[in-house]
This record gives sequence, C-alpha cells and structure tokens, in this order.
Amino acid sequence: MATPLTSGALTSHLAQVFAQYPIEVVHGEGVWLHGRDGRKILDFYGGHAVAGLGYGHPRWLAALERQARQMAFQTNALPMLIRERAAARLSKFVGLGLDTVFWINSGAEANENALKLAFKLTGRSKIVALEQGWHGRTAAAGAVTWGALEKWYGFPRTPFDVAFTPRDDPAAIDQIVDRETAAVIVEPVQGVGGAYDVGKPMLQALRTRCDDVGALLIFDEVQCGTGRTGAPFAANFHGVAPDMLTAAKALGNGFPVSALLLSDRVAGNLKYDDMGTTFGGGPMACAVAEAVIDTIESESLLANVRQVSMYIRTSCIVGPVTAIQGAGFLLGLKTSRPAKEVQAALLAKNILTGTSADPHILRLLPAYILNEGHVDRLSDALARISA
Ligand SMILES: Cc1ncc(COP(=O)(O)O)c(C=O)c1O
Repeated sequence: MATPLTSGALTSHLAQVFAQYPIEVVHGEGVWLHGRDGRKILDFYGGHAVAGLGYGHPRWLAALERQARQMAFQTNALPMLIRERAAARLSKFVGLGLDTVFWINSGAEANENALKLAFKLTGRSKIVALEQGWHGRTAAAGAVTWGALEKWYGFPRTPFDVAFTPRDDPAAIDQIVDRETAAVIVEPVQGVGGAYDVGKPMLQALRTRCDDVGALLIFDEVQCGTGRTGAPFAANFHGVAPDMLTAAKALGNGFPVSALLLSDRVAGNLKYDDMGTTFGGGPMACAVAEAVIDTIESESLLANVRQVSMYIRTSCIVGPVTAIQGAGFLLGLKTSRPAKEVQAALLAKNILTGTSADPHILRLLPAYILNEGHVDRLSDALARISA
C-alpha cells in the first residue's frame, strides 16, 4: 500500500488513483533505487513485495532475454515445454501435493479462479475470509477483502455470500465455517493487514474445520509466498497444506505472472473450459518463474531470508519501533508514532519502507538478497528518529 506522502504529480495522463511517494525512480540495481534527482535509496519495499531477487538480477534478465529471442508468446492451445517445465518446477518447489498448476497473470485473477473452482466443485454459495485479509480488486477477490465494500468495491453487490472470521480466534471458526461454505480463503501471513502471521494453530483449525464440513481451503500466498517467509511458501513454513494456493508478485520478480496450484482432489475434478486465459502461461512468464525458483534455490536465498530476518528482529527495535511481527521478509515494525511519520522520516534518510492498514505498522518487504549491512543502515536511521 503506497502511502499518500504526496499526490501523483509526475504525470497527467495516468488515472489519478494511486497515492505516490515523492521520488521518481529511473533505475534499480540489487536492493538500490536511483532517483531522477540523483538520490540513491535503499529499498525495503521491493515494489510492494514483487522484487524478491532485487532489481536487474542477471539470471532473471538472462531468462527473459533467452525466451524473448526463442518465442515471446504462444497460446495455451499450442503445447510448449517451458510451460510444462515451469509448472513442474513450481509444484516441486511447493510440494504438499499441490501438483497441478494453472498459470494466469495477477494475484486477483488467481484468487478469482480459485473461488470460482470452489463453487463449481462444492455446489455451495458461501465463502469465509479472515478479518483484515486482502485478496485483490476484482469482483470476487474484492468481495472477500476486508473493508473493501465500505472503501472502494464499486460493484452493486458481491457475487456470493461472504462471512468474515477474526484472524486470531480459532474458537470462532466452527460457528462461521458451516456446510454452506464452499471455501475459506486466507493469507497465512497477512500483508496489507499489517504483516501479521495468522499462525499455525489458526491455520490448522481452519484445515480441520474445512475437512469436517467439506469446504475447500485456499491459501492466498500472493504476497507471503515464493520464498518470502524463508520457506518456499507459508504453507511449508507452517506445515499446513491447503487445497488450492495462489502465488504471484515475487514469482515473476517484476514480470507479470501468477499461478493457481491445485491438489489432486481439486485437479481431478477439472473439466475443459472450467478456466481459461490468453496471456496466462505465456512462455516469458513461465521462463521467469522458473528462473526465480532456480535462483532462490541455487543462491540459498531462503536461508538468507531466515538469517537476515532474525537480524532485523534483534537489531531494529530502536527509536520509534517497539516490537516486530510477521515472518521472514514480510515484517511489521510496530511504531510508537504513526507509521507514516516514521516512513517519511526514513525516506528523508534515503530508505524506502511500506505502511499497512494498521496505522502503527511499518511494513518491510525487501528483496531476498538483502544483507546485514543493509539492515545496519535501517537500524542506524531508526535510532536517529525520535520515538
Ligand atoms: C495477499 C494478496 N492477494 C492478492 C493481491 C492482488 O494481487 P494483484 O494486485 O496482482 O491482483 C495482493 C496485492 O497486493 C495481495 O497482497
């Protein structure tokens, strides 16, 4: 979530729907952004959780260039090895029996398809989502996003029944998830909701209740997945397997790609035409997803995320930061002052961070290549901001 530090003054032909930061970026390398004004900014925001490998990673560039020269696009009606290979790579990376992949283009589109499949497969009409959860801007994904109806939804009505359950109360689940429920959708670590780790007990309780009433469990790992927790996915991090899992953002490291992963139970019920897409599964997107997973594994980036995340937790409770929540590189720094003030003060010291729906949580979503030296710069800057 961009913070309204200033209104969008850089352009006049763009729809004015985004609050924008007061820096125009022209170039990025690794974890650094270069502004038009010559400023060099340390990026703890990662293009809103997208730049997992950082900017201009050579393997990512090479995969894009190779695939662009070979074949930049081809429809799903024509088989391509890269599409198959990337799906196999992603399934293997996740494990947990999520062995079937449907490629699409954005997080919301992946969630939209997951929800549609849940209705088709169960014949039911209700979805349960978590309070403070965020799932995207389309009709179905927006319907299950906490607070969307009051703030920006725009459609005359939601396309199905939705109930929200508290994110920290396993005891409430049995009342809300019932035999009318087609699916429960949950971000295992909430992003917009404040880098809040829903945690294993809650996820396990949802898994058990879904099994009891015949509902499907969907993990939205658009933000918390693809290595961000220091595990392949948060499902691995918590050891709870969903029936469907959605991935996007860091999966493409900036090239648009998303994926819906299905368990055998779900995939076994698919029929032709249940889902479709033009750009999803494009060879460039698949080459990039494969390169991202290869890079995470071959450069031991999951271990780096775990190690540097721990370092952030031990060194960054300084200045206005009173506590740290979240997992891996999806961290929420609790601030004594409004997080937006701390964010602005950090940006003045050339460090970019994010905020969240919680006004006292500063959100960090850095690239997996971040090191302890970068964290020292953050903790030094925080120490110079008054509490
Ligand atoms: C958890 C989560 N789900 C879904 C989405 C929507 O993804 P997209 O913007 O790619 O449609 C987001 C975007 O921020 C997200 O954080």
